[in-house]
Amino acid sequence: MEAVLLVGGQGTRLRPLTETTPKPMLPLAGIPFVTHQLVRAREAGAGHVVLATSYKAQMFRDHFGDGERLGLALTYAVEDEPLGTGGAVRNAANHLRGAGPVVILNGDVLGGLDLGALLDRHRRYDADVTLHLRRVPDPAAYGVVTTGPDGAVRAFEEKTERPPTDQVNAGTYVFSRAALDEIPAGRVVSLERETFPALIGAGRRVQSLHDEAYWLDIGTPAAYVRGNCDLVTGLAPSAALHGGPAECLVLDQAEVGEGAALSGGTVVGRRARVGPGARVHRSVLFDDARVGAGARLSGVVVGRGAVVGPGAVLTDVMLGDGAGAAAR
Ligand code: GDD
Ligand code: MG
Repeated sequence: MEAVLLVGGQGTRLRPLTETTPKPMLPLAGIPFVTHQLVRAREAGAGHVVLATSYKAQMFRDHFGDGERLGLALTYAVEDEPLGTGGAVRNAANHLRGAGPVVILNGDVLGGLDLGALLDRHRRYDADVTLHLRRVPDPAAYGVVTTGPDGAVRAFEEKTERPPTDQVNAGTYVFSRAALDEIPAGRVVSLERETFPALIGAGRRVQSLHDEAYWLDIGTPAAYVRGNCDLVTGLAPSAALHGGPAECLVLDQAEVGEGAALSGGTVVGRRARVGPGARVHRSVLFDDARVGAGARLSGVVVGRGAVVGPGAVLTDVMLGDGAGAAAR
């Protein structure tokens, strides 16, 4: 089985963190996010994965190389100008080695979907495309998908104001090779706004698998923090992590001062320092971050080398790499 990972977006909602690091390379529980997906693809039987890159493409190659360390063959499809989700898939197809169905994953989804089950469904219905669907409380922020009783997809509406259902596209697909090769090459194409509606309109076999396993799009600040904490506390599954569930994850050479309390799945990055008496709840401290004595943090991201002053009180904010926040 081969897979394509879409990792070329700008991650605008996670600025300023994504000004220095592309969203899929931001750390989740201490490792670049996309590692969780790569290991998941490997566990499901993928031997070869194409990373569809554009924004800060070189950072992926520098970190993962040929994939050998992860037990995968990795290749990189690079878009000089972002081609959209469909254009990215089409461009990545040039790097595929086989002719079988291909698993496509949005590069910002943390989840426990059984990829093998999605492939089985695709094969059973001899589908052109099979989508993973899920219910969410806020469907307007996603691709809303209407299905018939047999799971056939009847309509796909991307980010619509009046969603007809709370069932949405969860961002993992299987494409038959023919459906993939039909996407026009060399121009911007959106899977969600162009490819899916066109396939449905043409009466092609667009199938779905509704699955309610753990699922989170980490693309907003609140979701990014939640994904980290859920991995640490064991709510989110990941075959890329080895420790058991915990209240916090303190990485190599970090220092936590006397009487400091870390809770809710807080991550303390490598060489980071938390001062005495600080209370850090559901927060993510990047490598080399510093939190002063007695500070109180909740829902906070402290970027690489960023500094929170002693006694500062911060809630639900993100400090970019190297930023500073003093006590009010
Ligand atoms: N290579 C490449 N080129 N990748 C891209 C491009 C591009 O031009 N544009 C976006 N991507 C990647 C992003 O890096 C991300 O991993 C993925 O495609 C989806 O883009 P997002 O920007 O995160 O989209 P979204 O979250 O608003 O919506 C998408 O995901 C939802 C589920 O989380 C859509 O697929 C929705 O329909 C879906 O419900
Ligand atoms: Mg997203």
